[in-house]
Amino acid sequence: MPNIIEHTIRTTQIKESELDESERLLLQSAKEATDRSYAPYSNFRVGVALLMSNGEIITGSNQENCAYPSGLCAERTALFYAKSKYPDCAIDTIIITARDTNGEFTPTPISPCGSCRQVMLETEMRQSKNIKIILYGTEYITIIHSAKDLLPLSFDNLFPEK
Ligand code: THU
Repeated sequence: MPNIIEHTIRTTQIKESELDESERLLLQSAKEATDRSYAPYSNFRVGVALLMSNGEIITGSNQENCAYPSGLCAERTALFYAKSKYPDCAIDTIIITARDTNGEFTPTPISPCGSCRQVMLETEMRQSKNIKIILYGTEYITIIHSAKDLLPLSFDNLFPEK
C-alpha cells in the first residue's frame, strides 16, 4: 500500500458584512485599484490592496503587455512595489479583487496564481508574522491565514532554519 499523506488547507468563509472596518477600507482600495489595471488582452481587471504594518495601504493591479509573459499579476505588482518602498515593513493583510470581462466584480473569489503564491510565501518568510490573505467575491469571501497554506510542499531552501 502506498503511504498517502494528506495536506489540508485551512480557509475561513465569511460575508462582506463580517469584515472589520479597516478591512472594509482595504477592500474599497482594492476595488478602486481594478480601475488602474491595464488589461487590454484579457479584459480581466485584478485589484489588490496591502495593509502594511506601518498602517499604509499599497495597491496594485495587473499590468499586461503585448508580449504576454512580460505582463505581471496585480499581487506581484503590489508586493514588489510595497517591498521596494518599505523593505523592512511587514505586510499584515492582502486583499484580492477582480472584475470579469463584463466589468462586474466576480461572484466567487479569485485565487492567486502559483508565481504569486511563491512570492507571497517568501515575503511572509521575510517577516515574523503571517500574511492574512482575503479573496473577495460578491457572494462570499475566503480568508487564508498564512501564505504557507496557499503553497504546500513549497520550495523554501533559501530559509532552511524556518
Ligand atoms: N491575474 C492577476 O493579476 N492575478 C491573479 O491572481 C490571476 C490572474 C491577471 C493576469 C492577467 O493579466 C489576467 O489576470 C488574466 O489572467
